Amino acid sequence: MEWIEVTGGRPLAGRIRPAAAKNSVLPLLAATLLCAQPCTLRGVPPLADVRASLALLEAVGAAVRFAGGCVYTAPRPVSGRVPPGPAAAMRGSVFYLAPLLMRAGRVELPLPGGCCLGPRPIDIHLDGLSAMGAHVETRPAAVALLRRGALHAVDYTLRLPSVGATLTLMMAAACAQGHSILRGAACEPEIADAAAFLNAAGAQIEGAGTPVLRIGGAGGLLPGGACRTPLPDRIAAATYAAAAACAGGCVTVEGCPPALLEPFLNFLSAAGCTVTARAGDFTVARDPAAPLRGGAALCTGAWPGFATDTAPLAAAVLLAAQGASTVHDSLFENRFACTAGFAALGAGAQARGRDLVIPGGAALHGAAVTAPDLRGGAALVTAALGAAGRTLVADPGHIRRGYADLPGDLAALGARCRYLAPQEAEKIVEVP
Ligand code: UD1
Repeated sequence: MEWIEVTGGRPLAGRIRPAAAKNSVLPLLAATLLCAQPCTLRGVPPLADVRASLALLEAVGAAVRFAGGCVYTAPRPVSGRVPPGPAAAMRGSVFYLAPLLMRAGRVELPLPGGCCLGPRPIDIHLDGLSAMGAHVETRPAAVALLRRGALHAVDYTLRLPSVGATLTLMMAAACAQGHSILRGAACEPEIADAAAFLNAAGAQIEGAGTPVLRIGGAGGLLPGGACRTPLPDRIAAATYAAAAACAGGCVTVEGCPPALLEPFLNFLSAAGCTVTARAGDFTVARDPAAPLRGGAALCTGAWPGFATDTAPLAAAVLLAAQGASTVHDSLFENRFACTAGFAALGAGAQARGRDLVIPGGAALHGAAVTAPDLRGGAALVTAALGAAGRTLVADPGHIRRGYADLPGDLAALGARCRYLAPQEAEKIVEVP
C-alpha cells in the first residue's frame, strides 16, 4: 500500500497556484457530450476523478484526448450504458445522467460512488428529469432513464439547493424544448462556470449564481462547442491556506480570487493568521511560535456560506489552537470521519453526529493514520504539518481524487512531505 509521509514542524514559504477546480472540471467533461462541435478544457489537473471521468467517456464511446493539461473532445454517437467501474469511482458520475440521456436517448447508470459522507440520494436529479418527461426506473444498485423525443421545458423548484442536481437539471433544460425556470437552484461558483461553458456552446442560460435560472432550450444538442479554462479550485486553495496556518510561515495562493473562499479566509484571520487579500490572489502568514486562537463555532452551508469541503481543514487548524471550538456540518452526516486520525495525532476532538467538538490546545505528535475520504485525508496531512515528528497517512488514494500531488505541492512550499512507495513503507516498522 502507498502512504504519505509528513514530518511536521517546518514553516512553509512560497507561492502556489491551484489547478482548475475538480468540481467544475467533472461536470464540464460530462457537458461536452451535449455539444455538437468539438470542445477543449484547459488547465485540467490529472486527478484520479478526472481519469475516472475520461475512462467513463471512453467506455461509452466518446472521442476524448487528454494531453498537456487539456482535454479535447469531438462529437460522436455514444452508448448510454455506463460501466460500474468508473461510476463507482466517484460521485461525479452522476453528471452523466442528463448528457447521456440527451445524447443516447437512454442511460443506465450504476449508483455513483465517491466519499462516504453519509446518505447521498439523487432523488432531485431524478425527480427533475422525470418532470421534463424522462421515464425513470430505479433499480437496487442503478438507475435507468429513457426519453421518447425531446425533453420538455419545466417550471421546477428543487426541494433543496443541491449543486449536483442544479447542474443536471440545467444541462437537461438547456437541451429541452421550450423555456424552463429552475427555482431553488444552488448558487455555487461551479454552477456559473458550467453555465458559461454551455452558453459558449449555444445554450441560453440566465441567472446562474442566483437561485432562479431561466433557460431557453435548444430542443436537442447545443449547436456549438466551447473552449474554457474552468475556475480555480477553491478547496485546494483553502488547503494551502490551512497548511500555512498549521505549519506557520507565509504562503501566497496565486490565480485564485479570495472571494471564492472568503468565509475560510475570515476564519483564518479570526484564528490569528495574517490574511492579505488582493484581486486575484491572497497571502496567509502565521508566526510559527505564536499559538492560534480557538473559540470558533463554525457551521457549513451552501454558497456563500462556509463550504462543507473546507470543514475538516478548519478543524485541522483548530486542533492546536488555544480554546475550545465546534464545527457543525449542515450538509453531510459523516463529514468528520477524520476524527479518528485527529485523535491518533493527539487531539481530543470528538465527532457527535454532524458536530465536531475540539477542546483545542493539543500538542500534536506524529502517528499512523488513515485517510477516510478526500477532504478528511487532506485535513490529516494538513494537521500533520503542525505535529511533532513523523506521520504516515494510509490510503492516500482518496486524496488523489482531488489533488494531483498534494505532498509535492506542500514540499514545494518547504514542507517535508512525500508519497512513500509500498516497498519503502514496508521497511518502516514503527511510527515515532
Ligand atoms: C458537490 C461537490 C461536493 C460538495 C457538495 C456541496 C462535486 C463532485 N461534489 O456534491 O464536493 O461537498 O457539492 O457543496 O461537485 N441531496 C439530496 N438529493 C439529491 C441531491 C442532493 O438529498 O438529489 C442532498 C445531499 O445528500 C446533501 C445535500 O443535498 O446532503 C447537498 O448535496 P449536493 O449539493 O448535491 O452535493 P453534491 O453535488 O453531491
